[in-house]
Parts: sequence; structure tokens; C-alpha cells
Amino acid sequence: MPEELRDIRNKALSELDMVQGLKDLEAWRIRYLGKKSRLTQILRSLGTLALEERKIIGAEANDLKKVLELNLAKKQETLREALFASPEGQEFDVTLPGRPVTIGKLHPTTQILNEICEIFSNMGFQVVEGPDVEWDYYNFEALNIPQDHPARDMFATLWIDIGAKERARLLRTHTSPMQIRLMERQQPPIRAIVPGRVYRYEATDATHESMFYQVEGLAVDKNITLADLKGTLFEFCRRLFGAERKVRFRCDYFPFVEPGVEVAIACLACQGNGCRLCGDSGWIEILGAGMVHPDVLTRVNIDPTRYTGFAFGLGVERIPMLRYGIEDIRLFYTNDLRFLKQF
Ligand code: FA5
Repeated sequence: MPEELRDIRNKALSELDMVQGLKDLEAWRIRYLGKKSRLTQILRSLGTLALEERKIIGAEANDLKKVLELNLAKKQETLREALFASPEGQEFDVTLPGRPVTIGKLHPTTQILNEICEIFSNMGFQVVEGPDVEWDYYNFEALNIPQDHPARDMFATLWIDIGAKERARLLRTHTSPMQIRLMERQQPPIRAIVPGRVYRYEATDATHESMFYQVEGLAVDKNITLADLKGTLFEFCRRLFGAERKVRFRCDYFPFVEPGVEVAIACLACQGNGCRLCGDSGWIEILGAGMVHPDVLTRVNIDPTRYTGFAFGLGVERIPMLRYGIEDIRLFYTNDLRFLKQF
């Protein structure tokens, strides 16, 4: 038996020298110190030996176990040190701090919507929302755009239900239907903005999407004039783009306002010299606006001889495009993280 113990010792220690990795070391441990190893069997059988023999063999076997365990621990440490020093070992370094978790951000459209709402809230406008699915009446009829009116062509419409005239439903083509809903609900004074998605059945290009956001604005009260509209919109542009940026204010036509205007901002990409983004004009239109048409006021039972109002509809994505020189509106909704992470 002592001889067998010596053999085990010699074999185990010389094999341990050859061990190169932690996996092999575990196999070695099982082979020489595991439950089924010869050494464990010897230790378990000590009780069957005569007393004298038990003393000698027991001492030697226990001594061998300690030696093997000690050498195992040393080897383990040497191998771990070598592993952590090697390039592939770096990833196992338990002392490294955890990898930071990427925290999501608000979508650039949401960020700009929040900013726009804050600017108008500070000017005294209330923020309200309306339905994406709208009746023909609110989207067109009540806004002075009856059936067969050529202005319907301005808004290529995605119809949901073309049934009878009063039941025709569509995806709203602009946020202006909310002008009617607001004025039906409440008598002046009214001062509200309506952020929301709008939909148009049209071919997309660098500045046109088929789903985009608008912010509608409506102010109705006594003595509201075009000067109030101009002042509000210029102040809004100043707060968003800074005092230096050129703003163009000129006539436009919308059936539900009289007079109608549009506001455009000097293109950032070409500094107003003309490029693909601005269609070589040097300007990008951001909103349509005007004084609420007296017929619209009458339709919602607001007396146009006592009250006047202004309204505007702002294209939201065009704001960050102008601010950061983004050259294609389609980037907003293609979910490319390389684009989205920049904001
Ligand atoms: C309207 O939608 C009117 N409802 C605006 C209005 C409201 C006029 C109140 C008067 C009073 P327009 O179709 O021009 O107008 O759109 C308004 C703004 O939305 C545009 O100036 C532009 O900034 C943006 N816009 C229009 N079409 C698209 C499109 N396909 N993709 C992205 N933005 C668009």
C-alpha cells in the first residue's frame, strides 16, 4: 500500500506538471482527488485495516491528499494569472467594472415636439390632442373644402371608408380638423396647439413623407389681427432657430383662412444658395397659416363680427432638418440607429 501511495504521488505530480489549462486541471483533480479516485478509495478503506497498518497508511494517505491539494491550488493560481494576462483572458477579468447599459433616448421628432409645445405653452397656448382617424366633415367640409373642391387635391388622402358623404372616414391629412373640434367645444377666448401625426397618399422625397407630424395652432378672441399671427410666428422662429436665421413670410392660399400665408426658413444645408434639400430655392417651407375664415367661424357658431382668430399648421420634421442640416426626411422613420443615436 505505501508503495501504491508513492506511485500515485509520482504519477499525479508529474501529470500536474503537464497540465496546460483550467479544464485539464479539473480533469486531473477528478482523477486524483475525486470521489472515485484511488486515493479516496484507500482513505475510505482505512477502517478495514489492522490498527498498526491503519496508522501508517492513514498518515501517508492523508499526507498525500494534502500535498496533492496544495499543488492543485498552486497550479490553479498560476494558470489563472497566465489566463488573465493573455488577450483572450481579458474578457474573463471579474475585477473589471460592468459594461454600461445603453439608455434609450427620445426620438428626435418627440424631442422637437416637446420643445415646440414648451415654446407655445410659455406663450399661453394650451396643448390638446385629436384623433388620427377623422370624418370627411372635419378634415374638409367644415374647413370650406366641400366635395369636388379643387383644394382637396392639395391633400392626397388615405380613405378608410368612402361610404355616404357624412360617414366618409379618412386618415387626417392635416391637424386643421382640430380647429373645428376646438371651436365647437368652446367659445373664445381660445388659444391652443395640437401636435399629432398626419397622413398623405403621396410619393416621398427628401422633404416629403407619407406620415409626418404637424402642430396646429389656433387663437380666437376679440381684436386678433394678422400682426398677432406674424408676431407669434416670428417669435417662435426666433426661439427655435436664433435671431440670425432668415425667416420669409409671404402670401399663400388655404380655403379655411383669409388671408393665407406661409413661413419659410433659409436652408441650412446651402445657407440659402440653393441645393437638393431646398429644391434650389434657398428656402424650406415650415408652415401654412392665416386668419380664420369668417365662414368657418360662422359654421361653429362663433360670431365673426365680434371675434377674429389666426391659425397655423407647422411641419415638425422640417424643424430638425433645418436646424441640423438633415438632408432627407425619410431618415426619421427608417429606424437606422446610426442616425437616431446622434440626437
Ligand atoms: C396644411 O396642412 C394646412 N393645414 C396648414 C394650415 C393650418 C394653413 C392652419 C392655414 C391655417 P400644408 O399642406 O402646406 O398645409 O402643410 C403644412 C406644413 O406641413 C408644410 O409647411 C410643411 O412644413 C409640412 N408638410 C407638408 N407636407 C409634408 C410632407 N409630405 N412631409 C413632411 N412635411 C410636410
